[in-house]
Amino acid sequence: MDLPRIFTIRESSHRIHNPLTAGKLAALGASLHLAPGTRALDLASGSGELLCTWARDHGITGTGVDISTVFTARARARAAELGVADRVEFVHGDAAGHVADQPVDLAACVGATWIGDGVAGTTELLGRSLRPGGLMLIGEPFWRRTPPDEETAKACHATSIADFVLLPELIERFQELGYDVVEMMLADQDSWDRYAAAQWLNLRRWLDRNPDDELAPEVRAELTTEPVQYARYGREYLSWGVFALMKR
Ligand SMILES: C[S@@+](CC[C@H](N)C(=O)[O-])C[C@H]1O[C@@H](n2cnc3c(N)ncnc32)[C@H](O)[C@@H]1O
Repeated sequence: MDLPRIFTIRESSHRIHNPLTAGKLAALGASLHLAPGTRALDLASGSGELLCTWARDHGITGTGVDISTVFTARARARAAELGVADRVEFVHGDAAGHVADQPVDLAACVGATWIGDGVAGTTELLGRSLRPGGLMLIGEPFWRRTPPDEETAKACHATSIADFVLLPELIERFQELGYDVVEMMLADQDSWDRYAAAQWLNLRRWLDRNPDDELAPEVRAELTTEPVQYARYGREYLSWGVFALMKR
């Protein structure tokens, strides 16, 4: 059970595996007015930057669960680096179906709603770990502009236009699920670049070091096509945000 290697090659230099910058992640943490000792659960926690920096900055505690051994090891190293290893722990595992032993104050899934088969299932999954009145964080893409055709949607790595909605409709969707949307932090095109364009140098450096690896042809093809495709499609049509929700 592990994340396919191509992901860890692409995002080898990333601490944040989503289109928020460190500044936006920090601003989101500050906007939530988290009390010291807040207990958090982060499903698909990646390299742990949310839990580690919020533990450092706001004194929260928590657990992250991620399927990637590489990212989980990095999250543990980051916790040690920031001096918060006694407050946050990172578990390697499948987060689908993961429910905390004790109810938490903050339950998050930032950029991996497939673990609950979509937004509705993920709110339901996180809700099973959350104490009444707790905060839920969901990171999810939305269309910045509706793609004109299915080809454009696929070029944004969606399977279809129907995969995502525009921002107002995404907010309505959360409300229809019975939640108040109480905060949000959105990516912008510059912060998308820090996520997407930052992958190209990782790909190129890996290729230079591993020309004979079985993944080299795939990485070569991606490095050739992705910058143009991203500039033409993903950067124009797709956006992303983290939404803070409270059950009504
Ligand atoms: C887009 S990244 C987001 C990571 C992190 N939340 C962040 O924002 O930096 C998606 C993450 O989901 C993890 N993942 C994918 N499927 C998973 C699963 N079934 N259970 C746990 N983690 C999973 C990947 O390893 C990766 O770290």
